[in-house]
Amino acid sequence: MSNTPLARSDRAPQPIASEWTALKARKVSFAWEETPLHWLPDDPFTTHTINVLHLLLPAGERWFVHVYKQVLQYIEDEQLRADVIGFIGQEAMHSQAHDEVLPHLREQGLDPTPYTAQIDWFFEKLLGDRTLPPGKPRKWWLMERVALIAAIEHYTAFLGDWVLNADELDRRGADPTMLDLLRWHGAEEVEHRSVAFDLFMHVDGSYSRRVRTWATAFSALVFLWQRGARFFMENDPTLVDGKASFKEFFAKGKQGVLPTAGAMARSIPRYLNRAYHPSHEGSTEQAVAYLASSPAALAAEAREKGAA
Ligand SMILES: [Fe+2]
Ligand SMILES: [Fe+2]
Repeated sequence: MSNTPLARSDRAPQPIASEWTALKARKVSFAWEETPLHWLPDDPFTTHTINVLHLLLPAGERWFVHVYKQVLQYIEDEQLRADVIGFIGQEAMHSQAHDEVLPHLREQGLDPTPYTAQIDWFFEKLLGDRTLPPGKPRKWWLMERVALIAAIEHYTAFLGDWVLNADELDRRGADPTMLDLLRWHGAEEVEHRSVAFDLFMHVDGSYSRRVRTWATAFSALVFLWQRGARFFMENDPTLVDGKASFKEFFAKGKQGVLPTAGAMARSIPRYLNRAYHPSHEGSTEQAVAYLASSPAALAAEAREKGAA
């Protein structure tokens, strides 16, 4: 990389036009009866670390939708409005699909309610609509949340790209239904990875807000994720003295069944670079190719055609 300072125009985000795609929600459904508790065989730690998604996403993605419905009125670009509406449809479906895993976990003796109650409080109360006077304070809080979502979406795209390429999960015999849920979701995250950032840049775009909300989102994600993994490991009925540790997280990253700490660390300066644009991360072509072969997405398409 050159040390020459970039000219101002070079530092502005430059989207890659060919990475854009029209968004549509696929009305998928999954049958969980055959999925074992440890859906990655003999690896409860990786299973439960990834299972944290089922705890965070139902409330988190419902919250995205709630915030975005309020921001629609500030969008003055028709294409961006269509993208945001497509995004809302996809996130609502993601939230529902992960929510539907929870009764299955309960049947297997792992009741997530104590943890999900905390997550619901986090998104609905702490990050919910505050009783603020209309005008500036209310708009400030809305923009803060729009920026938070853009930062979180940097990570959902990162994880989506990761899971699409995590061949080690296949090699180790991961449950095909769970893999399809993760990759269908991951592929749609890659498909819509630019929407939250484009929206933030359109309605606000303040760099100091981007940095501040990134720090909040990153700390909250690490905090909630390690608590969730610990919760699952400690409450797994098949484990005696189950524990989650950062050491094991690093080890599983090296084995290719979780993202590596190094890849996660390298993604930080990319988001904080003034020239960052999400279209430079991941591949829409790969995402679309997965969705064209995903069993759940294909079944959804067939049902839609049948109903038409
Ligand atoms: Fe999502
Ligand atoms: Fe998303």
